[in-house]
Amino acid sequence: MILPQPISALGTGLPNVEKAMLQRMSPERVFMMGDNPALPRMPKAPKLLDFFRLRFSEITFRHLLQSAKTALDAGQDEKIVIACLLHDISNGALLRTEHGYWSAQLVAPYVSEEVAWAIQYHQALRYFADEAAGFRYPDAYNQFFGPDYQPPEYIQHAHREARAHRWYMTSRLITVYDMYGFQENWSVDPEQFTDVIGRNFKEPREGLGFDGSPTAHMWRTMIWPNNFL
Ligand SMILES: [Fe+2]
Ligand SMILES: [Fe+2]
Repeated sequence: MILPQPISALGTGLPNVEKAMLQRMSPERVFMMGDNPALPRMPKAPKLLDFFRLRFSEITFRHLLQSAKTALDAGQDEKIVIACLLHDISNGALLRTEHGYWSAQLVAPYVSEEVAWAIQYHQALRYFADEAAGFRYPDAYNQFFGPDYQPPEYIQHAHREARAHRWYMTSRLITVYDMYGFQENWSVDPEQFTDVIGRNFKEPREGLGFDGSPTAHMWRTMIWPNNFL
């Protein structure tokens, strides 16, 4: 049996099935632990692109690759390309809410401090135009949140903080190459980023999830997303 994550049901009106499932439990019917046969099996020592191919939703997979490719084609530094490739990584198979913070934390042990910082702050910067840098308030946000949406104080604060920071442009450029279109008819081969990843993302020898890093548990959660505990 697979119990949905509490946070995915909270506030949605979906019934909480925890109690009912516990009542249905028997020696023949236990909770999922380990490999879910409904999901592709991950390698023993998974690497970054294994998560892209075997776990991420189609939209996030394409979005991250398209953003990174756009930055690459624009002649940007590898630090910008890797930041674009990872900026929404938590949306792939973990969490959307507070995705800039979750994504930054997930990759922080493996990228430079600047790249992790830029990923964290892109969440806030997306709500504020910087026309000089080539970024307008996204039309998509008017559609997602309505034209009157005002981001909360902590996001406004993060924006002010980022503006005054020496790494502002690194984060701002993520928003510039953040592809709003999520273009369906443009497929980018993940393999072409192998070298950029090799130089800018420290793949642990034991594989992501098994290196004892402060975020290894987050990678394991994506490997085994249905574990009961
Ligand atoms: Fe984002
Ligand atoms: Fe994005």
